[in-house]
Amino acid sequence: MDNFTYRNPTKLIFGKGQLDALPAEVEQYGKKVLIVYGGGSIKRNGIYDNVIKKLSEINAVVFELPGVEPNPRISTVRKGVEICKKESIDFILAVGGGSTIDCTKAIAAGAKTNADMWDVVTKKAKAEDALPFGTILTIAATGSEMNRGSVITNWETNEKYGWGSPYSHPKFSILNPEHTFSVPENQTVYGMVDIMSHVLEHYFHQTGNTPIQDRFCESILITVMETAPKLLMDLENYELRETIMLSGTLALNDMLNMGYRGDWATHNLEHAVSAVHDIPHGGGLAILFPNWMKHVLDDDNAGRFKKLAIRVFNVEVRNKSDREIALEGIEKLREFWISIGAPATLADYSIDESTVEEMADKTVIASEKYGNFKKLNRQDSLEILKASL
Ligand code: NZQ
Ligand code: ZN
Repeated sequence: MDNFTYRNPTKLIFGKGQLDALPAEVEQYGKKVLIVYGGGSIKRNGIYDNVIKKLSEINAVVFELPGVEPNPRISTVRKGVEICKKESIDFILAVGGGSTIDCTKAIAAGAKTNADMWDVVTKKAKAEDALPFGTILTIAATGSEMNRGSVITNWETNEKYGWGSPYSHPKFSILNPEHTFSVPENQTVYGMVDIMSHVLEHYFHQTGNTPIQDRFCESILITVMETAPKLLMDLENYELRETIMLSGTLALNDMLNMGYRGDWATHNLEHAVSAVHDIPHGGGLAILFPNWMKHVLDDDNAGRFKKLAIRVFNVEVRNKSDREIALEGIEKLREFWISIGAPATLADYSIDESTVEEMADKTVIASEKYGNFKKLNRQDSLEILKASL
């Protein structure tokens, strides 16, 4: 393992009825609260009304920023920053999924700097502080509820980047699995693909001696794969939603990757695709991940793929080369994602060859080479994208 320091300051408040904790959690930061939410699902499923009721218990003065887009935009971040500065907001409450939470992280940092937040996202400026914020998670997917990452899109320049700062951890996150009952089937699938992809990004690394971390990763992958088909038949099953919700948080709260750095090339590729085509993040990952795997697999690294194939996908090993075992595992991953309704080709989103060069360009704007398991360049991006058409 590499040396590491682990600290995660987010208080995780998990389970039925946990919205009751909201007033006391918010009260310590002040009365002026900005609620940030998405396109209206929280109004249809009643979560909005319950949150407003809870905040009235502490006589909070509530401001609102609705309309955060899936793949949240810098223009919405700027609107939120303006409200925070104009109204001297004390605390921001994100009610929604990764998009709403990521947008909130950027607003919180933007409220405490004179820099434009796009300069922070693109690392031309640094976040120096942030308003305190908390989250009420309504969809299991990104892990944003317990990490410092935030992914923001600039629709004017067709760019989508992740950024983070030491000030970008939520103070608390309330996770009631019941809040995810209304997530439709397709979004539930995208969420589960995203969760598995985070684990897979961790799993492909080059650091030695990570047996505990490997087993943690494998256990989450196996658990999500066991749970997914059952959940898709029974979307309001508390226990199944609970399992997926906890999986989502654990997959990306930096516990799995203690002592090593995962790959993250597929996320870079997916962000490039959705910067140009605005497709769901999980959908893009389902298409790209198996193709990234096939592209990077070679004789030196086949062992890692073989381990995944045997331990997670139960691939038989008799009379097969490591490469054959590895390829069979990759095929099983693809088959599993197709079986739960995830897309398999960019054509599923009507994306054809015409934008492949543009997407490949975007994978190398931040740096010429990317990926930690195997370094990739623009030519690699092109090949993986073409294989994904
Ligand atoms: O906008 P509303 O109306 O709320 O509807 C949302 C949205 O349409 C809907 N939804 C959420 N909760 C619901 C619900 N519908 C019914 N009932 C509910 N309870 O689901 C749709 C998707 O929501 P979104 O927040 O976009 O999904 P997700 O959580 O998957 O977030 C995706 C974004 O997070 C980024 C992605 O790139 C993408 O921009 N990521 C953030 C990461 C992080 N911060 O650590 C890491 C990830 O790898 C990822 O890149
Ligand atoms: Zn992701």
